[in-house]
Amino acid sequence: AALDAKLKAKGRAYYGNILDTNTVNTAQVTNILNSEFGAITAENAMKWDATEPNRGQFNFGNADQVANWATSRGKLLRGHTLVWHSQLPGWVSGINDRNTLTQVIQNHINQLAGRYKGKVYAWDVVNEVFEDNGQFRNSVFYRVLGEEFIDIAFRAARAVDPAAKLYINDYNLDYAGPKINATLALVERLRSRGTPIDGIGSQAHLIVGNLAGFEEQLVRLGQTGLDVAITELDIRIAKPVDSNKLAQQQRDYELVTRACLNVPKCVGITIWGVSDRNSWVDSTFPSYDSPLLWDDNYNRKSAYNGADVAL
Ligand code: XIL
Repeated sequence: AALDAKLKAKGRAYYGNILDTNTVNTAQVTNILNSEFGAITAENAMKWDATEPNRGQFNFGNADQVANWATSRGKLLRGHTLVWHSQLPGWVSGINDRNTLTQVIQNHINQLAGRYKGKVYAWDVVNEVFEDNGQFRNSVFYRVLGEEFIDIAFRAARAVDPAAKLYINDYNLDYAGPKINATLALVERLRSRGTPIDGIGSQAHLIVGNLAGFEEQLVRLGQTGLDVAITELDIRIAKPVDSNKLAQQQRDYELVTRACLNVPKCVGITIWGVSDRNSWVDSTFPSYDSPLLWDDNYNRKSAYNGADVAL
């Protein structure tokens, strides 16, 4: 039956999915979440622009709705995300002195992680800090504070919610190259200076037929000894979608699910959406389509069987 129950039976923590205000009242979505998935990430509601649009002015309405939906149904909650250059309000990007930015980061984390203290299984503490070439992204955080912004964020998160697992999260960690190397090197530096970090999230926004190195790279993440999670899985198809590509997508979902099972430290998988109807892929990658396990009409695709057969 449910993907979550089967992955748990293999000793892992969850098979999860996302929820937000655009889907929380859509019964077709929530019924599937209820029966198939055991963890919830808020697609947008916990991001900085949604939670602190002006300095010191916090809005938790949407985030509460997602958090309450999950916790009242016994689902794990993944917090996403505390420090990220995107969906970041302009008032933060304009800060140019170290003390102010440090206080702003600490206060944001205290308020956000404090509100959900004890309810969050894991926080994506920092998201997408590297460029694909392995250089740090030129965000306001890196420009003003250098690499130390990452230590500041992890330390603040640990102090406010000591029970939450603390993750670094990024995309394009699914093939060999400078980005995964830089991520692994950063993790070692953080640990060597005693900064608390528990896990590495591989977003896994993938393209059908393009997964040759996926498991090998997940193994490398697991060799750190930290927890590993696949945090935002989707596998998009170049238009036009046809039956061959859908069959390949089925094999690809099987491959990713097996990869997690083959990495002992892989605690869980989160798919970035239920129905193709609501996927971010439509607007972000207009020449791609159909990345998820349920189609535009909430019918199961063969991709579902790919995930299921691996379990
Ligand atoms: C995406 C959401 O799915 C969209 O609704 C939003 O418009 C943009 O952000 N990496 C992340 C996620 O960490 O937060 C992003 O989510 C997808 C890429």
